[in-house]
Amino acid sequence: MAFPSRILNATKDSLELVSRELLAGGVVALPTETVYGLAAIITDEMAIKEIFNIKNRPFSDPLIVHVLGFNDLLKLTKLEDDSANLVSQLVDAFCPGPLTFVLPKAGSVSPNITASKSTLAIRIPAHKDFREVLLQTRVPLAAPSANQFGYLSPTTAEHVLNSLRGKIKYILDGGPCEIGLESTIIDIAKGQIKILRPGAITPEMLQEATGLEVIKYRQMATTDPSAPGLFKRHYSPNTKLRLFEAGQNAPKEARIAVIHMGKPDNADEHTFWLSENGDLTEASKNIFSVLRRLDQCGYDKIYCEKAPPIGLGLALNDRLNRAAAKFP
Ligand code: TXA
Ligand code: MG
Repeated sequence: MAFPSRILNATKDSLELVSRELLAGGVVALPTETVYGLAAIITDEMAIKEIFNIKNRPFSDPLIVHVLGFNDLLKLTKLEDDSANLVSQLVDAFCPGPLTFVLPKAGSVSPNITASKSTLAIRIPAHKDFREVLLQTRVPLAAPSANQFGYLSPTTAEHVLNSLRGKIKYILDGGPCEIGLESTIIDIAKGQIKILRPGAITPEMLQEATGLEVIKYRQMATTDPSAPGLFKRHYSPNTKLRLFEAGQNAPKEARIAVIHMGKPDNADEHTFWLSENGDLTEASKNIFSVLRRLDQCGYDKIYCEKAPPIGLGLALNDRLNRAAAKFP
């Protein structure tokens, strides 16, 4: 069924409206500090299934659940004392914020959310509008990124509208996402921290906060059973994307767009950059927007410079590698 889709400014009235819509079993798009999410309350099986239908996402790819704080996280998971202490330490250091924990799930969590896995991905988002909706619903929200499965994640309300027009009633506009890349996902089984998806919380930050060894994420060939949805090909534009190393030259032709991290000296009208001075925080915030915009410009190919492979550059390169993997 097609709906007229509306972008709502995040006023008191619209926050109440989307919260009521969620409690009535609706699916709505909400801003987070990472990317926009497509949310439903975790207690409504039909609404959860509808998330998969709207996104065209396989049911084998589990969802992330969003809660207000550590106590709510404990209610949905089943933690031994050791891991509860470690999670508590990480929550104190990084949450609310862009960090998702994969933890043994409590029996009450529907298998439709976790793709029948024994673990649950759960995070405590920082965006004030998302938190206000959680306060009003008083029920945790499952929310994958609000894009069609496989396409670039949305970092503005307009991105969501472009991808999901007619499929959802409301998109709550909380402005452009501060971070612009999906959350860091970690598995903390056996007292170790293993990164399943790199993000704004970097391996260095996790190591420093806990003193533990952090196993860095390695690009997987296809899929890994521990992270069924972390497909190598993901987050892709429709236009063919190629990557090049910093310092290399990309081809200069009329039908090719070239994206640099910082503003290059020899820029022409087909040259773009993610941050005037190559700042990685700003580059990460802009990458999906710039790729989406250029995807609509009719270029034959897009060339994008890789980020330096440190800190946030790891997460940015991960998304670039996945986006380019569709075009061997
Ligand atoms: O920043 C974010 O995390 C955003 C915002 C909306 O919160 N959400 C997001 O969700 O990126 P999604 O569904 O697009 O990506 C979640 C990833 C998927 O690749 C999924 O396979 C993986 O997390 N995942 C979910 N549950 C898992 C589990 N139990 N074990 C391993 N991976 C899991
Ligand atoms: Mg996603």
